[in-house]
Amino acid sequence: MQQSEIDLSDLEFWARPLEERAEAFAMLRARPEPVFFTEPEAPPGFAQGSGYYCLTRHAEVVEASRHPELFCSGKGTNIGEMPPEFLEFFGSMINLDDPRHSRFRRIVSRGFTPRFLDSLKADVSSIAAEIVDGIAEKGECDFVTEVAALLPLRVIVDMMGIPRSEEKFIFDRTNMILGFTDPEYVPDQDPNVIVGSILTAGAELAQVIQEIGEDRVRNPRPDLTTALVTAEVDGEKLSPAELASFFILLVVAGNETTRNAIAHGLDLLTKNPDQMARWQSDFNTLAPTAIEEIVRCASPVIHFRRTVTSDGARIGDHEFSEGDKVVLWYWSANRDRAVFSDPDRFDIGRKPNEHVGFGGPGPHFCLGAHLGRREITVAFQELLTKLPDIRSNGEPDRLLSNFINGIKHLPATWTPTAA
Ligand code: HEM
Repeated sequence: MQQSEIDLSDLEFWARPLEERAEAFAMLRARPEPVFFTEPEAPPGFAQGSGYYCLTRHAEVVEASRHPELFCSGKGTNIGEMPPEFLEFFGSMINLDDPRHSRFRRIVSRGFTPRFLDSLKADVSSIAAEIVDGIAEKGECDFVTEVAALLPLRVIVDMMGIPRSEEKFIFDRTNMILGFTDPEYVPDQDPNVIVGSILTAGAELAQVIQEIGEDRVRNPRPDLTTALVTAEVDGEKLSPAELASFFILLVVAGNETTRNAIAHGLDLLTKNPDQMARWQSDFNTLAPTAIEEIVRCASPVIHFRRTVTSDGARIGDHEFSEGDKVVLWYWSANRDRAVFSDPDRFDIGRKPNEHVGFGGPGPHFCLGAHLGRREITVAFQELLTKLPDIRSNGEPDRLLSNFINGIKHLPATWTPTAA
């Protein structure tokens, strides 16, 4: 591939095999200038907007993340401009700057400390056990829909105190919201239909949580919804609209990422049998580094955007102007040779592993990182002990997206066993 053939704005580029994507980003990282401009092609339904600057190397992604006062999130974090009517449902903390961001993060972060997670009824391990026991006798499954997607979804649903009967409803709506560029999730790719589907999905999710939130104000329970509707910072509580958009962020950000980490994890372990055997020989010791390596290699979130807040903000020799859009390519930064030796190698003992799969160091670093790590760990603990010869059996059916490095379907097989 020639550098002139790389068009990050063209969905066709994202349909190419992952090896070609890696080759293209390696070329972009090798350019003499670390900051370069790209003309946009907005996804259907999104306004065209102006072009954007790309950061593809680790050092610059980290630098921009560390300076939210210069590279802010409050003017949008997607490449395409969100239609204004989206803000009601999708304008949560990920799109806020200080002081509102830190106020919001203080209210919700108590629901994500390891201690609070431990105290919740939603026990990640028992949910993982239930899912793996449920498929053990079958000997084959679609690993994404029957395992990887189910775990984070069920954990959030249980944590929030939402009835399990709503699980499928929530799953379908999150697919529509983040998978809208893929015809499997939104078959009619007419821009008006896409915008309508995303808005309807947002409104339906908001309704689910607002009803539960109203109930918890009167009838507190040991769940995250109760913690969120009763938490106060400086005398302020979350409004019903803030609760709804935060819930939508949680289900979307928490489900679509962890599920893809787990699915890529099985695929990576299958394609690297030495690493599978290594982990199986000493699961607990290797789990912490294996999880980080799965997140680095998978990089479920391909990029997030920032906007320059003032003229003269710099990265290296490049001077930005206020309003410039800057895209942080996390997927690329996680393959930067300057930081990761032999970056294309999947090494479950990799140390150090300063990946930016959960975002760079800064205020927007993933709120659910503890939970995500825990989910991936227990998923593989259950799988590798109960179904030790589980392997992916065929190439992943990948999501067509420049934002989520998703796997829609992944066949898996193992020797059937009694649950
Ligand atoms: C492997 C799993 C996960 C990955 C790879 C991941 C990735 C990320 C990334 C890259 C960001 C940074 C956004 C930015 O740069 O603006 C982020 C933020 C966030 N993540 Fe995660 N995430 C994962 C799991 C979760 C889970 C399980 C939850 C919750 C249930 C969650 C909730 C959030 C929230 C609320 C934010 C916004 C934080 C803020 O703006 O302060 N994530 N995540």
